[in-house]
Amino acid sequence: MGTSDTVGKQAEVFNYGVVRQFAIATVIWGVVGMAVGVLIAAQLIWPELNMDTPWLSYGRLRPLHTNGVIFAFGGSALFATSYYVVQRTCQVRLFSDKLAAFTFWGWQAVLVAAVITLPLGYTSTKEYAELEWPIDILITLVWVAYAVVFFGTIAKRRVKHIYVANWFFGSYILTIAVLHIFNNLELPVSLWKSYSAYAGVQDAMVQWWYGHNAVGFFLTTSFLGMMYYFVPKQAERPVYSYRLSIVHFWALAFTYMWAGPHHLLYTSLPDWTQSLGMALSLILLAPSWGGMINGIMTMSGAWHKLRTDPILKFMVVALSFYGMSTFEGSMMSIRTVNALSHYTDWTVGHVHSGALGWVAMITFGSLYYMIPRLYGRKQMASMKLVELHFWMSTLGVVLYISAMWIAGVMQGLMWRATGIDGTLTYSFVEGVKATYPFYVIRLLGGVCFLGGVCVMLWNTLMTIKGQVRVNPVVPLYSPDAIDPALVGPASATA
Ligand code: HEM
Ligand code: HEM
Repeated sequence: MGTSDTVGKQAEVFNYGVVRQFAIATVIWGVVGMAVGVLIAAQLIWPELNMDTPWLSYGRLRPLHTNGVIFAFGGSALFATSYYVVQRTCQVRLFSDKLAAFTFWGWQAVLVAAVITLPLGYTSTKEYAELEWPIDILITLVWVAYAVVFFGTIAKRRVKHIYVANWFFGSYILTIAVLHIFNNLELPVSLWKSYSAYAGVQDAMVQWWYGHNAVGFFLTTSFLGMMYYFVPKQAERPVYSYRLSIVHFWALAFTYMWAGPHHLLYTSLPDWTQSLGMALSLILLAPSWGGMINGIMTMSGAWHKLRTDPILKFMVVALSFYGMSTFEGSMMSIRTVNALSHYTDWTVGHVHSGALGWVAMITFGSLYYMIPRLYGRKQMASMKLVELHFWMSTLGVVLYISAMWIAGVMQGLMWRATGIDGTLTYSFVEGVKATYPFYVIRLLGGVCFLGGVCVMLWNTLMTIKGQVRVNPVVPLYSPDAIDPALVGPASATA
């Protein structure tokens, strides 16, 4: 049977249309969000680049970057992969095509609204929750529709078991709903201005309960869902330990919730809350590494493939960065370490080792697996370009984070240095001056990373355009067929 027939038949069974839309959106938003990242990185070296225009100023473009990469790039990737994974592992079409289409167009509307309002200066000022109340309401509607589509699909599944990737995706959808609603309780005073329902230290506490769990669930748990499907698929190995995946899932979900105060160490937050946040952040290392170890060990017996398979390289490097950034985060939660790292570029280095190294790299690997299958191609148009992308990303992230680590530790040490008479050894501006060379290295890393995403965009377009359809690599759906990612107890029950 020709592949076009196969893809056609699969399209009848599965809703691949919305997955394709979100997959393409991911790559496009990746270019946009990271281009803004490169621009603000350049502005930190050459402030004149804000062109004396308020809407090009650093303060307005920085939230545009964070929203662009987290919600536009990361969010679209999560919609795409969760819709793909839930259909394949439940062996049914999405619960509702119309609602799924609404989530695509609704989410894009949110993102376009962000691109317009943030440079105009409309902001609720809460980090990662800057968007004003009308957009918050639209986000809520889209998210409810997302939950209905996702859990509705689980409810009508044809296999008894719920594969572990869906647990991770499901917990992220539920948690983000709760976080979004409670952190954005606000009093609108005009169409584009609102004030938080909380005040003072409570506001800070709620904000960082949200902020940290945005990291925990939007940038971690969900991407672990991606990892649990695509790593076994690409490695063609079963998940190393199904039991470990369940244990670390519950441990992660429980522990993340308490770690927020590590963003507020040495503030007016009650002391015991800070200590609790620090202790639970240290405990958080265990479930985080549970996930990392499970992913890496899934490679057992497939390590030789790393020599030739750039997609697996993306995945393994992503897992290594996941392990590294969570170790680093736990260390930075220790008060005495945070006394040095807080306010410095070390935090920015930590952020990007998680964001570029883990989030972006696992996304690239998963999309390179998924895109050809969505379009009935055997593989991406050019595997050489995938390899090139891999090396550009790796070089980019290494330049970025090592520059920020050195700059951060240097800043922390300069700020605390005192002479024998107790006066500060360095003025603040001396610290800024000493940081310049590292900002240049970060910019180079950013350009390299962004270049890689542009290569990916081109490769994606060529894959979609490619005329040669090859034999199917995705097995055609049949009620008896079971997705090879289902392992452990799952295969016994299906
Ligand atoms: C080409 C790649 C990128 C470049 C050049 C870049 C650059 C930057 C710059 C210059 C900042 C501001 C740092 C500061 O205020 O001192 C920043 C902040 C941030 N970026 Fe990126 N970025 C990139 C990719 C990403 C990606 C892919 C993500 C997430 C998936 C991300 C998430 C963030 C976050 C969360 C912050 C705020 C950090 C904080 O508040 O400490 N970035 N980025
Ligand atoms: C065990 C896991 C982790 C722990 C305990 C942890 C801990 C921390 C700590 C202590 C800070 C610095 C707070 C400050 O001084 O202001 C921080 C900042 C941050 N971390 Fe992590 N981290 C973890 C994993 C991750 C991962 C995997 C990512 C990204 C995917 C990430 C993203 C961020 C972001 C975006 C910030 C900056 C927040 C802001 O100030 O805007 N973290 N983290």
